[in-house]
Amino acid sequence: MTKTVRILGIESSCDETAAAVVENGRALLSSVVATQIELHKKYGGVFPEVASRQHIRTIYVVIDEALQQAHLSFADLDAVAVTRGPGLAGSLVVGMNAAKGISLGRNLPLIGVNHLEGHIYSSWVYNQDTVPVPLEPQFPLMVLLVSGGHTELNLVTDHLNYQRLGATLDDAAGEAFDKVARLIGLPYPGGPSVQKAAMDGDPHAYTFPRARMEGTWNFSFSGLKTAVLRVVRKLQEENRSLPVNDLAASFQAAAVDALYTKTMKAAREYDVKEILIAGGVSANKALREAFLGQEEFKVHIPPLALCTDNAAMIAAAGYYRYINGKTDALDLDVMPTWPLS
Ligand code: KG4
Ligand code: ZN
Repeated sequence: MTKTVRILGIESSCDETAAAVVENGRALLSSVVATQIELHKKYGGVFPEVASRQHIRTIYVVIDEALQQAHLSFADLDAVAVTRGPGLAGSLVVGMNAAKGISLGRNLPLIGVNHLEGHIYSSWVYNQDTVPVPLEPQFPLMVLLVSGGHTELNLVTDHLNYQRLGATLDDAAGEAFDKVARLIGLPYPGGPSVQKAAMDGDPHAYTFPRARMEGTWNFSFSGLKTAVLRVVRKLQEENRSLPVNDLAASFQAAAVDALYTKTMKAAREYDVKEILIAGGVSANKALREAFLGQEEFKVHIPPLALCTDNAAMIAAAGYYRYINGKTDALDLDVMPTWPLS
């Protein structure tokens, strides 16, 4: 029988302080996420200095809670995995220092994980009580990463083997949701607000542009954002109230169409077995419905709780690094900018 490997994951790259314990890269024993949304709401976005201070306040409580929920102590762990980047430097160091302290104090291997890699591994995680155990994603995979800071298409041929085919040339998809939300007067965080407003809107009310970026696997969302801005300005000049729900629905339809169409095309062209969607925007209902509504490819999308930032995904990715001997030394530093491939 193979040895059971339990890894503590720690995530603090942006505005969630999170810790989780995952067994053998897949079975979720616990996951705790302390969100800072309320703190940043009044600034309309993440305030980096406030974020790092809050991480310091909560990180040990969150780690303790993750161990308690898993009914484990540090002695039961095999390694500690932590987000090394990309993210906010001041936030990343809080998780990194906590992980280093645990690694040194408990003599556990330290594993630095790329946050984007973490998002991908969310799809390997299942609740420990799930029977039968869900099938794991099959390589080669076409991976669409859609978060607040990144939007890219990756061909993933094996564990830890990423080939970036294209990425956004301007705004990330999540960033576009956040900026458009602000434009039409919806609260932070923009993604969930736009989704909510869109439910009561007509996606055909406005025809917003879909930048096709033909001949590349790149995306662009700034033209779409500007198109929304133009409509908003015109309505304001005419002293008319904003049809917020229609604007949200029409914007969302254009963004989802751009993401869906290009991902499907890439999946066909690279003849992959399956598609995997990861990152905060994968929580979007319209995006999920687009991918789950087709039968050409099996699509993996994490459960809602694992779409946005969490530490289970870091522990899962950490496991595949661990079994491949990719552990790190205690002088490991954070990498605020760190491409996946
Ligand atoms: O992955 P994530 O939690 O953090 C980063 O790594 O960036 O992604 C956060 C992003 C934000 O831009 C947020 O607006 C977006 O994901 N998001 C959504 C939804 N939930 C979160 N976008 C669209 N629809 C949603 N339901
Ligand atoms: Zn993220």
